[in-house]
This record gives sequence, structure tokens and C-alpha cells, in this order.
Amino acid sequence: MTLDDFRARFPILGRRVYVNSCSQGALSIDVEAAIGRFTASWHSGGSPWDQWVGEVERLRALFAGTIGADADEIAVMPNATVAAAAIATALPFDGPRREVLLGGVEFPTMAHLWQAQARRGAQIVWAGAPDDSRTPVECYEARLSDRTSIVPVAHVCFRNGYRLDLPRLVARAHDAGALVMVDDYQHTGTAPLDVRALGVDVLVTGTLKYLLGPPGVSLLYVRRSLVEQLEPLVTGWFGRAEPFAFALTPLDWSSSARRLESGSPPVPSVYGAVAGLELLRMPGADQVGHQIARLVNRTVTGALDRGLDVRTPITPSERGALVVVGATDAQALAARLAARGVIASARGSGLRVSFHAYNNDADVDAVLAGLDAERPLLLDRPA
Ligand SMILES: Cc1ncc(COP(=O)(O)O)c(C=O)c1O
Repeated sequence: MTLDDFRARFPILGRRVYVNSCSQGALSIDVEAAIGRFTASWHSGGSPWDQWVGEVERLRALFAGTIGADADEIAVMPNATVAAAAIATALPFDGPRREVLLGGVEFPTMAHLWQAQARRGAQIVWAGAPDDSRTPVECYEARLSDRTSIVPVAHVCFRNGYRLDLPRLVARAHDAGALVMVDDYQHTGTAPLDVRALGVDVLVTGTLKYLLGPPGVSLLYVRRSLVEQLEPLVTGWFGRAEPFAFALTPLDWSSSARRLESGSPPVPSVYGAVAGLELLRMPGADQVGHQIARLVNRTVTGALDRGLDVRTPITPSERGALVVVGATDAQALAARLAARGVIASARGSGLRVSFHAYNNDADVDAVLAGLDAERPLLLDRPA
């Protein structure tokens, strides 16, 4: 599929300059139709749970194929927090490995859920200050030891687009005998992804951003050799070996990553998520990655030429799909841009614009024109 054909699947792009995929991906006609198929199946079948559970399995297999994993290494979860918490509650913190190594790049939820494990003996070690959005791998390396249990880390920071050197971090963490759990939410769908090549132990992501799906479903990859060691504290019938045996005992565990699931799956969201993943396959990960990198580069260059306070790393390998510029009042700036038809988002004192392969050069030019028009609200690049 060409990028123009891909773009044509998203009606909002005909009406708005939509550069907010880091918050929520645009709605395609394909995902809208899939959600309609869910409601139609409910109307016609009443309770077609076999069909709905089949759709969950489709999502599992599709996502596994997208990241180079096998379906039995994937759990379908309701959000990224719950997915990561399933891992957190399955780890023991009563032995010599009690440390959880966090950096400042995390989305807040990913720091909260680990701090809550302190009651079970976990000790939080900060690789970088909690507000340091560019914690480099060196800071993690300095704090890794034989006390480190796990390094939960964001691949791309939601606040400024900083992208961590993941292969190096994984190698160093494994040398220290620690696990690595990647929060890939700001990355999955923006570039080719191969979990085996990366060597991560766990990967958490969701469908609502760059995977083009709706809210309500997240996806969890667990390396096969780790799966059978994990017994989360929140569990239920979907974690059992035979959920539809409806047996109260024993508390057995599915031999697959499904053991991390708990209750009924988020079926309407799953329908949309399947359609989003199928659509994303059409242009292909290489073409998607190339287009996003090109648009990000065009934006960073344009912002630097204008002397703006670009908070996203200048080096292409150190950044993801979003570009952040400093503003005197980022909320007001986002609102002014929205009034001009440019949908972006604000986080703290930064205005975020993010790109998917459905965006084009004209979108970038419209963003830059909007920044020119609102220049008084933007900060200068520090000397
Ligand atoms: C990096 C990252 N992780 C996690 C989340 C949200 O996780 P959840 O699905 O639990 O809301 C976001 C949301 O913006 C995010 O950017």
C-alpha cells in the first residue's frame, strides 16, 4: 500500500492536521468498521463468546507476528499498567535481588506500580532523577548490581521523545543477571520491532497510539523461558490452563503467557485492535519507519532553523516519533494551534507533535506555520 492510500483510510486527515499519535492514533475507516462488526455480532448472535474469544486469539497471533514473537508469549491485557503490574506482582522481593532500577524517562504509571511493590520488599533505585527525561544508559550501568531484580524502562520517553540505547542496556542488565522490561508504548508501530533481536525479557505496549487501535487493550510479551516462572498476584479464570472447565480448583496456570491474564477480555477494543494491526501491515514497518523518521527530521530541522527550544534529541538514533518544543504556556499554545486545525498536545512546558506514516510533508509545514504564527508563546533555544 502506498502512503497516500494509507493516509486516505483516516478521514480526520482531510479536516485536521493531526499530529497527536503519541496520545491517540487517528481513527481509520477500517477500525471503525471492525467496531461495527463487534456490535453487529452482538445484535445477531446475542452472546457469541466463541467468536469473541476467537478474535482475541487473532489479536494475539497478529501482534506476535508483528514483533517477531510466538503467540504463546503474548498476553492480551486491558491497559499497560495492569500488564506491567502482572509482571511486578509475579516477581519475588524477599531474596537478595530486591532492587528495581528506574530512570526519569518513565511514564508516571510505570514508576507508581513499582513503588507500590515496596510493601512486598522491593527497593527502588533511581538511575536518573525522576524528572530527568534523558537518563542515558551509563546511569543505569552505574547502578546495576547483583541486587538488581529488574530494569523497567521506557524505550522512548513520552515527555521529549528521547530514545534509549536499548540493545546496550539489555546487554549490561543481563550481564548483571537482571531482567529488562521495556515499556514500548511510544515506539511500537513507529518502526520495525524484533523482540528476539532486542533480547528483552518483557515488552509492554498498547494499541491506542501507533498501533492504530482504540483504548481498552494492551499487549504483553514475555520471553518463553520466563513465562513459567511467573505467577501474578491478581489472577482469574483466563489465567488457568482450561478457563472453560469452570473449575474452582486447582489454581493451575496456563503454560503460555495467557497465565498473566485475569478476567473477561476487552472484546470491543480487541475488534478495533485487530483491524488497526492489519491496516498497519499494509504499508509495512519499513515504509512506516522511514516516513516517520523523515517527518520528524523535517520538523526538528524547521524548529532549529527558527531558533526554537527543541527538547527532542538532535541525533536521529536518539529520538522516536515525537518532537517537543519548549513553550511559555504549552497548554495555551496547544489550544491556539487546535483553533488553527492543528491537533497536538502539551506536557509540562513542552508542546508535543508526533507523526505517523499517515502524516505528510504538508502536515509538517502546517505545524511550522502554526509555530510561526504563535511565536510569542514559544521559548528560544538556550545559548
Ligand atoms: C510510555 C507510556 N506508557 C504507558 C502509558 C499509559 O499506560 P496505560 O495503558 O496503563 O494507561 C502511556 C500513555 O500515554 C505512555 O506514553
